Amino acid sequence: MSTVISPEAVAAAVDNALVAIAAATTVDELKQARTAHVGEASPLGQLNAGMRHVAPEMKAETGKLMGQARASVNQAYAQREGELAQAEETARLMAEAVDVTAVAQRRTVGARHPLNLLMEEMSNIFVGMGWEVAEGPELENEWFNFDALNFDEDHPARAMQDTFFVEPVDRHLLMRTHTSPVQVRSLLSRELPVYVVAPGRVYRTDELDATHTPVFHQMEGIAIDKGLTMAHLKGTLEHLARAMFGDDAKIRLRPNYFPFTEPSAELDIWHPTFRGGARWIEWGGCGMVNPNVLRAAGIDPDEYQGFAFGMGIERTLMFRNDVADMHDMVEGDIRFSQQFGMVV
Ligand code: PHE
Repeated sequence: MSTVISPEAVAAAVDNALVAIAAATTVDELKQARTAHVGEASPLGQLNAGMRHVAPEMKAETGKLMGQARASVNQAYAQREGELAQAEETARLMAEAVDVTAVAQRRTVGARHPLNLLMEEMSNIFVGMGWEVAEGPELENEWFNFDALNFDEDHPARAMQDTFFVEPVDRHLLMRTHTSPVQVRSLLSRELPVYVVAPGRVYRTDELDATHTPVFHQMEGIAIDKGLTMAHLKGTLEHLARAMFGDDAKIRLRPNYFPFTEPSAELDIWHPTFRGGARWIEWGGCGMVNPNVLRAAGIDPDEYQGFAFGMGIERTLMFRNDVADMHDMVEGDIRFSQQFGMVV
């Protein structure tokens, strides 16, 4: 028995397929519509399968009818597929869109303290010249802080610095009053020659006011080699000054006294743009390392000589960045630190 493939049956199957294709709202639904209306079990599929029973004289005409039916369904399918893919792509892009004008939901991450940034910057200048960066303990032996640095037992210089001694006093521990004990520690722990800078925190029994704080920072430097002279000291400090303040910066040394250097000098720095105009500002102390310090570290002063220097970091920040009040540096208000940038 031959299946009748009537133009009406084909048209109805095609219409149903087109309706289902148009109704699909996702690519998945569209695939289901194809299975339901074009697949083998679908009305169109059944009609197609009936082709082999069509009488020979009707084959050409019926074949053409079925071909047109398939073509129109396929075309509608392809078009709808394109539309849906486009819509899904657009929806995805919309969902991923970033509103660059939206106010950022940013978590505050803090800022590094300008004193730390400054110590790092200074250290880097020395690292650039091949020096090492060293650290020493803040709770220090009296021997490193004073004795090894040539302060006599009852030398007035020992009282010159107002020291926090730590109980029990017979243990001879104190909060270091300067970074100079790292000079001796560096000499004891290294092979010669030694080129070391030591930034760090120091303690003195000062009251906190606009220009003093009981806890502050220093940058120590020591160079011990064969044949080092005052000229090397001056050249090194000049380089530091220019690297930090620009080529206009100048330094000068004024005679002074420290038990651990001989001769000793006060270090002043000059720059045309300092607050209050071009002027000399006291920056730190320096000198040629006293032979007694070398001896305390087991070094023969006839063979090795060198220089040392130390400067206050708070002071440096004050005249370098026009910070007028020490309180700003110790109070920990993040708004102060943020002015110096978020450099990490
Ligand atoms: N330690 C000295 C001070 O705190 C500074 C200094 C360091 C001087 C090194 C000479 C050499 O005042």
